[in-house]
Amino acid sequence: MTAFGLDVGTSSVKGLAVGAGGEVLARAEVAHDLSTPRPGWSEQRPEDWWAGAERVLAELAAAAGAPSGIGLSGQMHGLVALDGADRVVRPALLWNDQRTTAECAEIERRLGGPEGVAKATGNAALTGLTAPKLLWLERHEPGAYARVRSVMLPKDYVRLRLTGERATDVTDASGTLWFDVRERRWSERMLDALGLDRAWLPPALESAEATGATRDGVPVAAGAGDQGAGALGVGVDGTGGDGIASVVLGTSGVVLHCLPGYGADPASGIQASAHAVPGGWFAMGVILSAAGSLRWLRDVLDVPYETLLAEAERWPPGCEGLYFLPYLTGERAPHADPGARGAFVGLELRHDRGALVRAVLEGVAYALRDVLDVVAGLGGVGGSVSLGRLSGGGGRGDLWPAILASVLEVPLERTAVDEGAAYGAALLGGVAGGVWPSPQEAVAACVRPVATIEPDGAWSATYAELRPRYRELYPALRP
Ligand code: XUL
Repeated sequence: MTAFGLDVGTSSVKGLAVGAGGEVLARAEVAHDLSTPRPGWSEQRPEDWWAGAERVLAELAAAAGAPSGIGLSGQMHGLVALDGADRVVRPALLWNDQRTTAECAEIERRLGGPEGVAKATGNAALTGLTAPKLLWLERHEPGAYARVRSVMLPKDYVRLRLTGERATDVTDASGTLWFDVRERRWSERMLDALGLDRAWLPPALESAEATGATRDGVPVAAGAGDQGAGALGVGVDGTGGDGIASVVLGTSGVVLHCLPGYGADPASGIQASAHAVPGGWFAMGVILSAAGSLRWLRDVLDVPYETLLAEAERWPPGCEGLYFLPYLTGERAPHADPGARGAFVGLELRHDRGALVRAVLEGVAYALRDVLDVVAGLGGVGGSVSLGRLSGGGGRGDLWPAILASVLEVPLERTAVDEGAAYGAALLGGVAGGVWPSPQEAVAACVRPVATIEPDGAWSATYAELRPRYRELYPALRP
């Protein structure tokens, strides 16, 4: 028996075919473009996701045969708006789009302030979330808005094309700001305040529930947003208390920790979410440019990653006073600030290309440590983090994970499969298709830690000394 998992990501659609013992039988990936038509804007064409998903599914089937179930995951928060004939009315606004500062303020005003938003949803009105994007469309593109008859998240557009069904899951719904995370259902209070027609929203199901089937009769699970699916894919499936967090070095960077019950601390930029296991919740903090920062530097320098990382290795921790602030697309946590900007600070003549690269790796690690400190402390319900399970493309070499473990001061574990989101999606698809009885049993059958990266004591001491200066730079440089 086989399960397929799809991750509708920011740079590509990735797919895995997974056997009943967790072995990866096939992989496929199709890249798509991202457009930034104006500063702070970030958009993609939903039709490109579907074209990529179709090709990925065909390649997986050619290599591994027909699956028993398919699970979907994808970039969270994106706004896909469709007309009455299910045609896309405009390109999707993505999770790292920052155009909605005024709409976030308006949502707070309508709910009676940030406390009202927190009470209705468990989250803060952050610029990347979906609700402010729809309000932006209403105010700035009324012609397009007038044609809207339904709205959905990126992976759910792929579901619509794949099965003809409209549905989402509780983890992705948690990132919309239309959802009451505590109650695991759409927030009447928020929908009323925004005047949003309920018929525009799909039902929000638990992640492993089937939501219809493909033309060939293969069940498709509700699935999960990439962070919930990714956590499951690295075995972070608990209801809290085990101290194991999911740490992601993807385009965005994430620290995600399961909670023993519902908990939220919206004022800190930390997001509250239902988890992909029934009765589970997690808290997560997201930095918007993690491996995205390294990709930016690689593109600017036009030099392969291997060369850059080899040169970075020659520099000592701290890069002789050079710091990098990774706020290249504004920031979400712990600084909820679309106006935040990146910077190199402390340059001198000795600093070469390798120093710039090492400073980027360290700056991203410092930013994730800021997030870890808030997530772990969350209102006393978070509990301390004693281990991180690492996933994402940035975690593949040796240097960055070594720096990150030393800055976070917790060991990082690699699992046999590091495409967390696609793997977690496959586990959910397999549950919907009868391969495993539940998400936790799928994790127990499939997820295997294979290596541990311990913090380096001397590096940790240096980073602990240098971090306070890093923390001073954001407020000092704020535009
Ligand atoms: C999560 C988030 C990002 C996107 C990227 O809140 O914004 O991780 O899901 O894929």
